[in-house]
Amino acid sequence: MQKILYTNARIATMVQGDTPYGLLDHGALATENGKIVWCGNRVDLPSRISSWPKHDLESRLITPGLIDCHTHVVHGGERSKEFALRLEGASYEEIARAGGGILSTLKATRSLSEDQLIDEALPRVDEMIGEGVTTLEIKSGYGLDIENEVKMLRAARRIGKLRPLRVKTSFLGAHAVPPEFAGRADAYIEEICLSALEAAHQQGLVDAVDGFCEGIAFSPQQIERVFTLAQSLGLPVKLHAEQLSNLDGARLAAKFHALSADHLEYLDEPGVAAMAKAGTIAVILPGAFYTLGEKTKPPVALFRKYRIPMAVATDCNPGSSPLFSILLTMNMACTLFQLTAEEALEGATRHAAHALGLDDCGTITAGKRADLAIWNVDHPRELSYRIGFNPLYSRVLGGDI
Ligand code: NIG
Ligand code: FE
Repeated sequence: MQKILYTNARIATMVQGDTPYGLLDHGALATENGKIVWCGNRVDLPSRISSWPKHDLESRLITPGLIDCHTHVVHGGERSKEFALRLEGASYEEIARAGGGILSTLKATRSLSEDQLIDEALPRVDEMIGEGVTTLEIKSGYGLDIENEVKMLRAARRIGKLRPLRVKTSFLGAHAVPPEFAGRADAYIEEICLSALEAAHQQGLVDAVDGFCEGIAFSPQQIERVFTLAQSLGLPVKLHAEQLSNLDGARLAAKFHALSADHLEYLDEPGVAAMAKAGTIAVILPGAFYTLGEKTKPPVALFRKYRIPMAVATDCNPGSSPLFSILLTMNMACTLFQLTAEEALEGATRHAAHALGLDDCGTITAGKRADLAIWNVDHPRELSYRIGFNPLYSRVLGGDI
């Protein structure tokens, strides 16, 4: 495969060290066979590489390809009616309890074929790719029966073949209780959710197992049933936890050494401590906080105190976060939650990779995949600074421009 030497570049390697962003002002970067083989200061370039075909970046900035580690981008329909209802004062929980919310997307998702689901998702995914996203996590969770959960995951995986994009899939059968099991959440878990997970796993469609631990969804005990099966299948877990209330979901996630706990607005210090001990990453989702007019912020100061890495993601979904822009999400993480611009970019690169259990991307280091974003900006902080402006110049996936 092609050898390329990127020259005349600023490079935000995102490697942790003394320099913010791991920034190289006069950098060069070489890729071969889909991997980064060398990255450093131009003056240190080894002579065996200096004759490779060159791509002069004219002082542009290279960052790792962005990683959106929490999305529900595969779904049917839209929920603007609920947007209008919330503007009139209805809450997310009230709408959900009245049969709207996730259940309204369930109906729309079940009614579409796998091909139709893909057709609806692709324009959204293309927006994400257009902002430099190279790895995208996609959850199931709007099928809530065996056939439709598998359909969603298949659609998600096919998107990764139809587009130059790495897709990671999470099984989210424990997202809501479907109408045919209304009032019988335990029975839904035992009779459907566990079998759906086994079926999806057997077909090789699951990278991780997720759940929604909340009053309007599932109790920690019910989530534990799903996590226990995940563990026995050798699958890592993650959890929507402490989004609307504190049910101690993050502690449960930590008990199962979860890759991440996500949302976390209502998390308390014991929960933070448990996450720190387990190495569970905090995924913060400012889009849902913003859309739902939430007032309680995730405990960012405690995450820093306990050195818990914070990932940042869109949570792209038709209800609580109709947000497609990872750049805007980074800006919101700064403006709404007071992350630094460096933390926001770490959140969409290095820490997002770890939230997906990935070690081969998220920083610019020799040996990692050549998944890169190249920007028309001078400094990496600019990526979090502007609102509604996309400075992407080019994107590289597995070495391919
Ligand atoms: O991450 N919190 C639960 N799940 C989604 C919302 C899903 C929906 O409202 O459709 C979330 O916010
Ligand atoms: Fe979510």
